[in-house]
Amino acid sequence: MNQDELKAVFDQQAPGYERQQQRLAPVHDGLYFQLQWILSGLPRSARILCVGLGAGAELSYLAGRFPGWSFTAVEPSEAMLSACRRRAETEGFASRCMFHEGYLESLPDVEPHDAATCFMVSQFMLDPEVRSRFFHAIAMRLRTDGILVSADLASEVGSIEYQALLRTWVTMLHAADVPPGALEKTHAAWTKDVAMLPPGEVKSIIERGGFDRPVQFYQAGFVHAWFARRLVQQDAG
Ligand SMILES: C[S@@+](CC[C@H](N)C(=O)[O-])C[C@H]1O[C@@H](n2cnc3c(N)ncnc32)[C@H](O)[C@@H]1O
Repeated sequence: MNQDELKAVFDQQAPGYERQQQRLAPVHDGLYFQLQWILSGLPRSARILCVGLGAGAELSYLAGRFPGWSFTAVEPSEAMLSACRRRAETEGFASRCMFHEGYLESLPDVEPHDAATCFMVSQFMLDPEVRSRFFHAIAMRLRTDGILVSADLASEVGSIEYQALLRTWVTMLHAADVPPGALEKTHAAWTKDVAMLPPGEVKSIIERGGFDRPVQFYQAGFVHAWFARRLVQQDAG
């Protein structure tokens, strides 16, 4: 899928996205919980870049726990960003957010951020070089030792572990009432549209983007997450 097609998919998914994600809440809860502690040493007035934040789950989690922090929300899907803005207004933290409808490339020059989150976004970049450049673009928006926390689907497609996780994942999505062909359908969609790579490969893609030895701190099903500090030396990319 190219960027426009992906944007159209998320525009379409936006109305039901939060409700759909609720079903996976336990998978994400541990991720958010640790995110809070990974970033807890940042200054009281830290600036956080949230890239591809959809309806704003990670933003809401952090904004509720760190009342002095401000956020730059980067999201190409207009419908997703509107849902995120509504959530920020309802929960009372919209005044601490700068909403940018678009990509990192079009984000105006703003002060460097102390940290960035990027959850379930880079997995849609099928070309590893493009994916590395995406992480590099995030690195360039961070202060020199800024922290990236990134999460993506990851696995060695076709391995025994992959087959076993796929069965569990699809059963979980359908609340155990798995329709015929669901397993094959999910596998086919992921093979076509998701860069499902072994966790070690995702780690080196992040590293090549300009981050120091990413640490994998989380796995729940296919969801894997890493944190890493921006390398001091950065070239223009
Ligand atoms: C699967 S959703 C994840 C949303 C949210 N981070 C979460 O974990 O619930 C992926 C989001 O990334 C956005 N996205 C896709 N490509 C992007 C890119 N190159 N830069 C920023 N956001 C992107 C999509 O519009 C979509 O809202």
